[in-house]
Amino acid sequence: MIDFLAKMPKAELHLHIEGSLEPELMFELAQRNNIPLPYASLDEVRLAYQFESLQDFLDIYYASAAVLITEQDFYDLTWAYLKKCAEQNVVHSEIFFDPQTHTQRGISFKTVIHGISRALADGKSQLGISSLLIMCFLRHLSAEEAMQTLVEAAPYKGQLAGVGLDSSELGHPPEKFTEVFAMAAEMDLPAVAHAGEEGPAEYIWNALKLLKVKRIDHGVRCVEDPELVAILRDKQIPLTVCPLSNTKLKVFEQMSQHNILGLLEQGLNVTVNSDDPAYFGGYINENFIALYRALAMSQPQAVKLAQNSFNASFLTDKEKQVLL
Ligand code: HPA
Ligand code: ZN
Repeated sequence: MIDFLAKMPKAELHLHIEGSLEPELMFELAQRNNIPLPYASLDEVRLAYQFESLQDFLDIYYASAAVLITEQDFYDLTWAYLKKCAEQNVVHSEIFFDPQTHTQRGISFKTVIHGISRALADGKSQLGISSLLIMCFLRHLSAEEAMQTLVEAAPYKGQLAGVGLDSSELGHPPEKFTEVFAMAAEMDLPAVAHAGEEGPAEYIWNALKLLKVKRIDHGVRCVEDPELVAILRDKQIPLTVCPLSNTKLKVFEQMSQHNILGLLEQGLNVTVNSDDPAYFGGYINENFIALYRALAMSQPQAVKLAQNSFNASFLTDKEKQVLL
């Protein structure tokens, strides 16, 4: 089964490129750029990566991103992830990036997007990996700052497949960003949003109704509202679920309590993703393996999850056919 999961072609739809910064590369970039790190060794990093909540994780995640300075740094970060994709038979990836994490510390939008996009182009030509880029707004910052980011992104619109919403969910509901997402829609940028990770089912409703998202990132708290579950099923709205992330951040205490297979069996369009693999203990294959070990996921269930990942992607039907 483990071999089967590894070889199965997969698409990844929920991956923060900053969350793929492995400790080894973090040390290398810190040295290259002369940035002090709060860790003396890789062991110390591993000890620090124990989280009680989303915010616990985010504090460390944003601090670590400080080692990313030059276009080459963003290239190296993205290239390392694409090599993982090649190893794990991820043939298509829709990658989130958080420009505000970088522009806030004086790194230009151009530096960030050029480094990432150049690696994505090489990923296509050298590794055969198809990819799309989704720009996320940090929801703990203001709607005005998100709007400024969207304006700044306009010249690079051709390199973006859509917009997303991430960071601290509780206290930053979707409605805070209604105007920003309306502007993105006018720019023909489809939307996704994190909702129902730590936040309530109401945030999922409002992401759908007000932000008009095509997919919900996480969404596992939908089960608290049966009417919402019925809508997600009937409209086949994809949920990009991240099992290892959810257990690391204590959304579920244990993998055996995770609801992804329950949602799948109810007919929801759920997919498996790694979120921030360098922080949560694994890439997409490790997420599939965890579901097999803790929840006895069957082979047909794994195949359905992988099929969902292609169906839920922003690829055209023709592009999907070429990949599969
Ligand atoms: N949730 C919200 N924001 C994030 C996450 C997440 O899981 N990962 C990176 N930014
Ligand atoms: Zn996420």
